[in-house]
Amino acid sequence: MLQRPRRNRKSEVIRQMVQETHVSAANLIFPLFIIEGENQKTEVSSMPGIFRYSIDNLLREVESCMNLGLKSFDLFPNISEELKDKYATESHRDESLYLRAIRAVKTNFPEACVVTDVAMDPYSSDGHDGIVENGEILNDETLEVLGKMALAHAQSGADIIAPSDMMDGRVGYIRQVLDDNGFKHVSIMSYTAKYASAFYGPFRDALNSAPKFGDKKTYQMNPANQREALIEANLDETEGADFLMVKPALAYLDVIKLLKDNTELPIAAYNVSGEYAMLKAAVQKGWLNEQRAVTEVLTSIRRAGATAILTYHAKEVLVNKWL
Ligand code: PBG
Repeated sequence: MLQRPRRNRKSEVIRQMVQETHVSAANLIFPLFIIEGENQKTEVSSMPGIFRYSIDNLLREVESCMNLGLKSFDLFPNISEELKDKYATESHRDESLYLRAIRAVKTNFPEACVVTDVAMDPYSSDGHDGIVENGEILNDETLEVLGKMALAHAQSGADIIAPSDMMDGRVGYIRQVLDDNGFKHVSIMSYTAKYASAFYGPFRDALNSAPKFGDKKTYQMNPANQREALIEANLDETEGADFLMVKPALAYLDVIKLLKDNTELPIAAYNVSGEYAMLKAAVQKGWLNEQRAVTEVLTSIRRAGATAILTYHAKEVLVNKWL
């Protein structure tokens, strides 16, 4: 035998020498949940190790992440039911929990990268990402709300705006609003291929943001479709996106690879709440080795072609020195 691939696997040093894919802190974005109040820290029951923080504790959490070299954060607000309405007006009210949180993080940690989520669902009394009229999600009317929200985020100091709503035309609309208001330097990370997935369940528990009726299938993509992701990718690129995101990550590694092969833009992937919950549950039962499972998951997402990974594992892999 002339070819013996096992020779390149014979020792740890050689295995590391030929390793093709690496994950580092620079690739990771840590999603953080925010709640109203002081000195609050409540665990999300379906996401062991993940908490909702009041702003004071959020700052402590960000500081401890920064010290570990984890410097990018994606913020999500848990809004109390009485502040929700049909038009998600709380999403662009100057003193809202979310805008205060963005300002607090950027004031205290100017070098941190703050990613903000643009979609109506945490603020909508209907629990949908767009305006609902007679059971339908209105597209163009929703753009106006998303534009106000994105502008408010930019004014509060957001580095990257991440529209997760899946309305048509929203990347171009938001780009225009940002540019018209002097925020040409604020980036857009588009949720390009966001699927109508079962794996968002724990996130909706965390924010109490589940739809009050129906599902999200008229705007989020059908999990059976791959080529449709290219339509979304071409649109987002033309409309001015700086990053294209695939979400969820694990069940959609083929879509990550597809986008990687069809764009020069950096690809982000969202290793979502349900993927985290699934792994943690198996670890709690003693059915998986946590370190090996987590690093394999993150490495696979990078191998498929994602540059940035939004993941709830971001802090623990650094605390435990698993990378
Ligand atoms: C809001 C939004 C969702 C997630 C990110 N932004 C939920 C949804 O679309 O229902 C899910 C993130 C996760 O599950 O970790 N539009």
